[in-house]
Amino acid sequence: TYVVTENCIKCKYMDCVEVCPVDCFYEGENMLVIHPDECIDCGVCEPECPAEAIKPDTEPGLDSWLQLNSKYASSWPNITQKKEPPADAKEFDGVPGKLEAHFS
Ligand code: SF4
Ligand code: F3S
Repeated sequence: TYVVTENCIKCKYMDCVEVCPVDCFYEGENMLVIHPDECIDCGVCEPECPAEAIKPDTEPGLDSWLQLNSKYASSWPNITQKKEPPADAKEFDGVPGKLEAHFS
């Protein structure tokens, strides 16, 4: 599966949802997650994310992000169409500590 990681938080560009062939993105207030059981590992979303927040779970160190994606994909609503990204998305690109400060 692919997973959405920290840099999505407060960037939330949503380009990813437009390309996913199985519509497996779920929407929180400040970030999206991928449902690990629905993702077919096609990889097309990874290069679409302007924040480079989407990674394959074969990359080391992503266990906690995989768990977070799995947990919230079960409760957040499905999202299949891009909306208007946050006006201050660019300001949050690459900012450290977003999980602690802004996860929702
Ligand atoms: Fe969707 Fe493919 Fe990305 Fe998985 S890898 S979330 S199936 S676009
Ligand atoms: Fe987040 Fe990137 Fe999608 S910032 S909403 S994973 S395009």
